[in-house]
This record gives sequence, C-alpha cells and structure tokens, in this order.
Amino acid sequence: MKKIIIICGGPSSEYDISLLSSQSIIDNIDYNKYSVSICIIGKDRKCTIKQISKPENISKWENGNILFTDTLLRLKEYDIALLGTHGQFGEDGVLQTYLEEAQIPYTGSDSYSSRLCMDKFRSSILVNSSTDLFIPKTDIVHLNNLEEFLNNVKLPVFIKPNKNGSSICSYVVKDLNNLKQILKDFYSHHKGEDEILIQEYIEKKTEVSCGCLEKKDHTFIQLPPIEIIPKTSKFFDYTAKYTKNASLERTPAIGIPKEQREIVSELAINIHKLLGCRLYSRSDFLVTGKKIYYLETNTLPGMTSTSLIPQEAKEIGIDYRDLISFFIDNS
Ligand SMILES: Nc1ncnc2c1ncn2[C@@H]1O[C@H](COP(=O)(O)OP(=O)(O)OP(=O)(O)O)[C@@H](O)[C@H]1O
Ligand SMILES: [Mg+2]
Repeated sequence: MKKIIIICGGPSSEYDISLLSSQSIIDNIDYNKYSVSICIIGKDRKCTIKQISKPENISKWENGNILFTDTLLRLKEYDIALLGTHGQFGEDGVLQTYLEEAQIPYTGSDSYSSRLCMDKFRSSILVNSSTDLFIPKTDIVHLNNLEEFLNNVKLPVFIKPNKNGSSICSYVVKDLNNLKQILKDFYSHHKGEDEILIQEYIEKKTEVSCGCLEKKDHTFIQLPPIEIIPKTSKFFDYTAKYTKNASLERTPAIGIPKEQREIVSELAINIHKLLGCRLYSRSDFLVTGKKIYYLETNTLPGMTSTSLIPQEAKEIGIDYRDLISFFIDNS
C-alpha cells in the first residue's frame, strides 16, 4: 500500500482555501488503496501530522508545534506527498524546493516551474511571445508606488498582485473613490515592495479556464474548458469563487464556439509544456470574439470536489476519486 501524506495550509492568504481543497481530498481518497496521513502547516509554519483511516474534519484539529523544516526527516517515511497547498509557500516553489532537497516525491510542478507560474507578469510575457494568445496591456509597480500610479493613469484599469491567487486584492478601478479601502486591503496581504499589476480592463468577455492532465509517460489527457459566469460580481472575484451558487460554471463552455473550445484545450497543454509544468495545471483565459487573452497558469489549482479541474475531468468521465488516484499514480 502506498503511503501518502497530504500537505496543506501554510503561511498563505489562501490558507483557508487550501484546507477546503484538502478536506475534499480527505473525504474522497481511496482508503483501500492508500495509507493516508495529513500534515497541516499552520500559518506560523508549525505542523500537525496524523495518520487517518477514514475521513476526519481537519478544521477541528489543534495547532501543531513542530516547525515545518523540522518535519522533513519524518516526511521521508512517505512514498509521496500530495500537495493540497495554494499560494505563497505551498505553490510558489518554496515548499517544492524543501521537498526536492529532502528527496521526497510530491505531486505537481517542480520548484522552478512553480516559481515561474506564480510570477504572472513574467510567465505571461513568455506565453504571449510563444503563442497566438494576447495578454492585457500591463504595467507593474511596487505596492508603495501604487497610489501615485493610480492617480495618474487613465481609468478604468484592473489591478491585482503579481503573486497571489483566489482574486485576493483584485479590483476593477473605475474611479478613485475607494482608493483608501483598496490600499488597506493590499497592505493587509502584501508588503510595500511587492509587485502589483495594473492591467487593461477586459470588459466584454467570456471567461474560460482549462486544465490538462499529464501522465507519468508525459502523454496528456486533454480536458474541456469550463465557462465561468459570475452572477452578481463584475468578475470572478473571491465571493464569486467561493460562495455557493455565486457563479454559473459550465462545461461544455457553450459561450464560445466549439472550434474555440478545442483551441483552448490544446492551448492549456501547450502552455503547461512551455512553462515546464508537471502532472496537472490550469490556465485562465478571457475571450472577446476571436481574441483569446491569457491571464495566468495555476500549478496547484483549487481541488475541492466542485473546483474547476474536477468539473472538467468529470465531463470526460473521470470522477473526483479517480482524479486523486491519477495524481498519486502518475507522480
Ligand atoms: N485584465 C483583466 N480584465 C478583466 N478581468 C480580469 C483581468 N485580470 C483578471 N481578471 C478577473 O480576475 C480574476 C482573477 O484573476 P487571475 O486569474 O489573474 O488571478 P488569481 O487571483 O491568481 O486567480 P486564481 O484564483 O485562479 O489563482 C479572473 O478570473 C478574471 O475574472
Ligand atoms: Mg485565475
């Protein structure tokens, strides 16, 4: 029986989402096939490690007291670390570097690719120069200079951190009435030296996202794109992402023509290869007529049973439990 350790949490603004992804994995993983342990990294990087033989509610677990770096020897006991982490530390190449150094096999992209994809600005330049995809016109400033920049730029613009996820600190800025509130939000998640993107606001668009699955032999399972229609938000913001029924998410993505759906599926694989991703990834796009804008690639995208990749996989007959087994068996 393969010994699996699911790693989740960490010092990221996506801590809560990571626990949701991991809880879904814990609720659905095949306990007849794998021996399962969990490592929750607290926001203070202190860990709890526990073996389980059936689903348990991890939100009830007490905080741990061993620093993550001190758990590495113990993590070597496992055949594979299944990463349920998102964002800073867990998806940006830091955790991946620790695991590589300790020679602990893990699911998903390596440290280099993780780091590159977390940098939306530089990875999108690479994608733009190597494909027919468009990218929104983008300026990049340090958070300390954001206020001055916004005071002098032609509005509307779309602003978001260069390295974060879950639409945290993402705003359509049409006027500067809420500037104080916006800056307060940014400073609660970021330091003054962090990079912020100020982008052309793509307004009349169809939003689609598309993952791909890479087998151990480097052949691919193509996934269909999923279309996202936020019901009350102006874009796919935090509320639209994580509130039940706040968005309509549909596969097939009938808001774009069939030929374009095929193109997006192929692009998801080509971008995955270009950025050096491994096992799975999910790229986000905005479509306006024939133009397809590339937004970003997620190396550890949301993995609750109703997240986008699980929905795409379900559409081609791979249920959530099989998807988890796919990740383990192809790592
Ligand atoms: N330039 C833009 N114009 C219009 N909408 C945008 C633009 N950039 C981003 N968005 C909207 O904001 C959302 C979040 O942006 P993006 O995917 O780049 O960041 P993220 O927070 O890292 O997302 P994820 O949760 O997928 O990691 C997009 O899904 C889209 O709805
Ligand atoms: Mg995104």
